[in-house]
Amino acid sequence: MSEKFYVTTPIYYVNDRPHIGHAYTTVLADVLARTHRSLAESTFFLTGTDEHGQKVQQAAEKRGVAPLAHCDETVVRFQELWTRLGITNDYFIRTTQESHKKIVAKIMQDLYDRDEIYKADYTGWYCVGCERFFTEKDLVDGKCPDCGRDVNAITESNYFFRMSKYQDWLIEYIKTHPEFIQPAFRANETLGFLKKPLGDLCISRPKSRLSWGIELPFDPEYVCYVWFDALINYISGVGYGSDDEKFNSWWPASCHLIGKDILTTHTVYWPTMLKAIGLPMPQTIFAHGWWLTGNSKMSKSLGNVVNPMDMIDRAGVDAFRYFLMAEMSPGNDANFSEESFISRYNSDLANDLGNLLSRVSKLTIRATGGEIPAPGENNTDDQELAQAVDSAISSMAECLESYKLDQGINAAMNAVRAGNRYLEKCAPWTLAKNGDTARLHTVLHNAADALCRVAVLLAPVMPEKMAELLAVLGADKANIAGIADLKELKSVAGFTMKEAVPLFPRIIVEEEAAPAAKPEKKVKAEKAAPAKTEEAVNVVVTIDEFFKTRLKTAKVLTAEKVEGADKLLKLSIEVGSETRQLVAGVAQYYSPEAIIGKTIVIVANLKPAKIRGIESQGMLLAAKDGNNLKLVTIDGDMPSGVSIG
Ligand code: ME8
Ligand code: MG
Repeated sequence: MSEKFYVTTPIYYVNDRPHIGHAYTTVLADVLARTHRSLAESTFFLTGTDEHGQKVQQAAEKRGVAPLAHCDETVVRFQELWTRLGITNDYFIRTTQESHKKIVAKIMQDLYDRDEIYKADYTGWYCVGCERFFTEKDLVDGKCPDCGRDVNAITESNYFFRMSKYQDWLIEYIKTHPEFIQPAFRANETLGFLKKPLGDLCISRPKSRLSWGIELPFDPEYVCYVWFDALINYISGVGYGSDDEKFNSWWPASCHLIGKDILTTHTVYWPTMLKAIGLPMPQTIFAHGWWLTGNSKMSKSLGNVVNPMDMIDRAGVDAFRYFLMAEMSPGNDANFSEESFISRYNSDLANDLGNLLSRVSKLTIRATGGEIPAPGENNTDDQELAQAVDSAISSMAECLESYKLDQGINAAMNAVRAGNRYLEKCAPWTLAKNGDTARLHTVLHNAADALCRVAVLLAPVMPEKMAELLAVLGADKANIAGIADLKELKSVAGFTMKEAVPLFPRIIVEEEAAPAAKPEKKVKAEKAAPAKTEEAVNVVVTIDEFFKTRLKTAKVLTAEKVEGADKLLKLSIEVGSETRQLVAGVAQYYSPEAIIGKTIVIVANLKPAKIRGIESQGMLLAAKDGNNLKLVTIDGDMPSGVSIG
């Protein structure tokens, strides 16, 4: 693993309102930066805004304010969102700042002096929206090949960067450096683009047409093309031309993180610019896919954006970060829907992770008053759990190198699920009942130890929540600043466990019949969601309260496993004249064959719920003790649909 890590995001157009797509790239960069820091590597994380060009000029004119004043007002939208999202960028660059403009001018002068830039007449097709010139053959049906909007023919004198002369070099460089453009299929896309002859790049705009830009140092009638200006942020932001020591310590960048929409500018323009300037190439340009809603790209112009603030208000910053990172596999597109957000939140966070913490904390406090006990001898169950944790740690390191963060997160969540299975199997509540203190202590220790390590592993994704979790384990007092310290952490024995706070209250979706045809959904987070415990709670109910729950007999007609959920069976049941569908968490105890034909007991008036996207109309009753589960059945023959009470 390299010793330093320098990561960048695109600098976003200051005119846009930040949406989930911008949030995604920036959170991904943040998680990468935090993870590298957690591994004790020195890290620099740069983000910022792209503030020159026609769109900003037009927007400012429309509002009757100066372009810079317009930028000063709008840049705040990004900065505020990054603060809210806990983004730990080391620097925020704005292309309108003097230090950046000076470097762009210096580079242009140098390239002009060395005849890398020349003046010529040019006729092209210009797309105002994309701020790009296209040649006749680039156009698709006479329209902009990128956005499909109308283009204008323009002939004028301009300055050109001799990009074409680097074509062969670039092709060779990409072919011999497989890590340069990732994922690999994006490198092929760029190589495909480079099969056509590469033209020179028009890098100027006459002021008569566009004045909002960096003036060319050798011709005050022109300003610099916005992309030529913007790409330079990646070096001006770390001291190029102003602080050699700083620059040399960070450049070349480890990773330029971008969306696939700006692949060509980053994998063709930028490398040839760097080559002409005389600088080494960044190690990796990683292009991720798009967040889609339905099947279209989420974008402001399409009017289908999801506002990150809404999602954060609903479920919290860390849950939002978790969802973005776990749901999209970098490189591919992902679909955003409220359903997928809520279902992942409830299953991974509220259920798997939240449940493990609350059980471990309760059981430990009950057993020892809070101190995490010292473990005894380990058996194969204990080893299995430790292995799941170790493999999560190594898998996270591998996935970090290959930018497959979603897989690293999944490995960590698998360790969490292994923790829950471990508790089910070892049944510490039974050990406590039977007075097997030695084994009880080992199990509680090992579960807490696993949770502690997984929390450190997931802290770059969910920094606040994992800090809270570690505080519950009493691990905040130990010296664990990051993943790098886990090797030194021999044991969590002796830490003082506190009562668990509900980290991720379940989100309950209420379906309400709205006057419109479409049912309106109401989503609310339960305040302190009661955690599942193994013991009955001592509350008294009246007979009326009890009979609010209608218990009925039901006959199981069919049963099948739910794909991707090893605990669930989908049943169709007969309840008198009715047939219902029911999803039950009994797959680990009953095979489909074993349950078909049984007469069981169900709660018949339970509000239908979706479990893994499948509707469940009711709930069956079963007795559960540790690792043992038995269905409640009827003693003898009885038809289905009969009331019980
Ligand atoms: O292109 N899904 O800025 P920009 C995923 N200023 N990511 C998305 C997305 C979506 N639906 N929409 C946007 C520019 N993004 C230039 C960059 S860099 C020298 C200059 C993210 O405001 C993604 O990272 O249009 C994409 O590349 C970037 O925002 C484009 O931001
Ligand atoms: Mg864009």
